[in-house]
Amino acid sequence: MSFKNKTIIITGGASGIGKATVEKFCHLGANVVIADLSDHGQQLSDSLNTAGHKTLFFKINVASEDENKALIEKTLQHFGGLDIIFANAGIAQDGSIDQLDFAHWKRLIDINLSAVYLLDKYAIEYWLKENKAGVIVNCGSIHSWVGKSGLTAYSASKKGGVNY
Ligand SMILES: NC(=O)c1ccc[n+]([C@@H]2O[C@H](COP(=O)([O-])OP(=O)(O)OC[C@H]3O[C@@H](n4cnc5c(N)ncnc54)[C@H](O)[C@@H]3O)[C@@H](O)[C@H]2O)c1
Repeated sequence: MSFKNKTIIITGGASGIGKATVEKFCHLGANVVIADLSDHGQQLSDSLNTAGHKTLFFKINVASEDENKALIEKTLQHFGGLDIIFANAGIAQDGSIDQLDFAHWKRLIDINLSAVYLLDKYAIEYWLKENKAGVIVNCGSIHSWVGKSGLTAYSASKKGGVNY
């Protein structure tokens, strides 16, 4: 299978599942935007580009609406299109409801759920405007379906991200 001339945005692409997905899509020939808060994304992009792949690092806090808009704009400017998004960035630090303060709840929901809505929304707006088709993958978890004690905000965020 080849993804030559296809462009994919991968949030949380600097480490873990996101990084493995970045490397896989590079080897399948895609243009890959590594969107992450961590500067490890720049190092990853530099080393992949040196090896002949086509990547761009975009430093982003996925919870920011303006930064999601800028991510789509920069991707279109740099690669000339957008075909696939993988809303993968997420955090798991959580707690039982008696331990979890409201600020922590809101931060987790912003990063794991609102960010998915924002990336999907601005990608879909672009595809509708251009009358193009696109592919959306939102990263869920077993906790999208099965709740677990101690994962108060994480379970809620992952269930929301695959069901809206
Ligand atoms: N690891 C698992 O066992 C597992 C299981 C099920 C689902 N998931 C989900 O898979 C996704 C990736 O998990 P992982 O284990 O690879 O995590 P990870 O911690 O290795 O990577 C997450 C990446 O997201 C980035 N990130 C965090 N907050 C950000 C923000 N506000 N803005 C931009 N980037 C941000 C981090 O810098 C990091 O590079 C998450 O959504 C997680 O919930 C993981």
